[in-house]
Amino acid sequence: PKAQPFALTETERHEIEHELGHYPDGRAASIGALKIVQQHRGWVPDEAIAPIAEMIGISAAELEGVATFYSLIYRRPVGRHVIKVCDSISCFLTGYEEIKTSLEKNLGIGMGQTTTDNRFTLLPICCLGACDKGPTMMIDDDLHGDLTPQGISTLLEKYA
Ligand code: FES
Repeated sequence: PKAQPFALTETERHEIEHELGHYPDGRAASIGALKIVQQHRGWVPDEAIAPIAEMIGISAAELEGVATFYSLIYRRPVGRHVIKVCDSISCFLTGYEEIKTSLEKNLGIGMGQTTTDNRFTLLPICCLGACDKGPTMMIDDDLHGDLTPQGISTLLEKYA
């Protein structure tokens, strides 16, 4: 069968329209629009950029720039749980490297990769605003601070 051309769903279009209503122009709504598509698909495929850009009235290149710059927009499929490890200065100084190594060992993947069972994706992120709790990371919407390399495996067990 021929692959269906990419199209935003009714729901996505509806939610993007709604988002647009909250902003003075499309540029201001761009992150919100990308997030809507990500909420429905888990990530934002390349083919989604042009139709979203058209809806909000900016160029595809400009939207692509936003999507690439903004690290919470995933441009590739991600696992069921997304781990984002803070690599900014405070966390770097309090043990980022050790946490990263422990995560990579426990998961058997490197930064930017997804486990073969699709359970976890490991990504770097900049300051999570909890510098006094460094080293920190987010798993999905949960912030975890004061991490230790030894504590990582127990923490991961909570995310099936
Ligand atoms: Fe990691 Fe601020 S540097 S939370």
